[in-house]
Amino acid sequence: MGKIILTGDRPTGKLHIGHYVGSLKRRVELQNSGEYDKIFIMIADAQALTDNADNPDKVRQNIIEVALDYLACGLDPAKSTLFIQSQISELCELSFYYMNLVTVSRLQRNPTVKAEIQMRNFENSIPVGFFTYPISQASDITAFKATTVPVGEDQEPMIEQTREIVRKFNSVYGDTLVEPDILLPDNKVCLRLPGTDGKAKMSKSLGNCIYLSEEPEDIRKKVMSMYTDPDHLKVEDPGKVEGNCVFTYLDAFCRPEHFGRYLTDYNTLDELKDHYRRGGLGDVKVKKFLNAVLQEELEPIRNRRKEFQKDIPYIYQVLQNGSRMAQEAAAATLSDVKKAMKINYFDDLELISSQSERYR
Ligand code: TRP
Repeated sequence: MGKIILTGDRPTGKLHIGHYVGSLKRRVELQNSGEYDKIFIMIADAQALTDNADNPDKVRQNIIEVALDYLACGLDPAKSTLFIQSQISELCELSFYYMNLVTVSRLQRNPTVKAEIQMRNFENSIPVGFFTYPISQASDITAFKATTVPVGEDQEPMIEQTREIVRKFNSVYGDTLVEPDILLPDNKVCLRLPGTDGKAKMSKSLGNCIYLSEEPEDIRKKVMSMYTDPDHLKVEDPGKVEGNCVFTYLDAFCRPEHFGRYLTDYNTLDELKDHYRRGGLGDVKVKKFLNAVLQEELEPIRNRRKEFQKDIPYIYQVLQNGSRMAQEAAAATLSDVKKAMKINYFDDLELISSQSERYR
């Protein structure tokens, strides 16, 4: 059995550098490693609708944004199948059957769902579709027999819930589905990049993101107004590196060669941090360095995005072709599932003959 990747994103906004270090960059590396037999990258519009049911235009508009961000980062339609979740009706069918294998209390205990319910102030009016989205996510993953799911840390409970569904399904109906492994970023700071305001998560609703498509001047402004150490008032003051997002971003993006190019007084990030801790190193200098590092990383992405923006019909063509290929794969799994569940009445000659036998 081959190694298969499935992962994806909700199209509720443009993708930002948190998505990039948390998952996108890794996907491109995995794609180009040649180690995977198939790679499916899904734009999860149906999942986005579970808490945006009254805002279909938002989801519709952002499909193209996410697709452009994917291509700009280097996902290549010749190597990875890019597709749109809602176009694969097999995913709904799988969810319908998996629902029988999951209890309400298990869903209530899912930490991601719990946190999201709180964040959205749903209280007693949780949409059923939202509540059950971990089941739908299990369908997304198992439909493609994915062995590997590269995602950010916040998705861990989803993968765990998927694994439970797979084990339950296989134990009740016989070995059919593949239990996936999560693949987290190796760099710890990339697990969850904080927002530019120092809040735990970069998120559109908090207005603390740097987007992949951001223009150079906007990147610079956002970096220069970033949260640092609130007690580091004068240059001479000793500063804190922990919880200081300028340093967190450097942990995520800085490579030793950047010092040679943009800050020759230091050779390594540790040297820079030591100086900051001792005192005598101003925020502006560190921010300027971070700005240079980010500009270098984001420029090629932004430029590729602009190229792809010139031919939007091509992007839709890529997604349509991908959706067709994804559907084929999902249909094969659904057929295995229906067979295992004994709901394949008409292609089972043995069933027909044994029932005939009974009435003979
Ligand atoms: N829940 C993911 C997000 O919030 C999107 C997603 C939907 C996904 N289905 C998936 C991710 C399956 C990995 C595997 O962005």
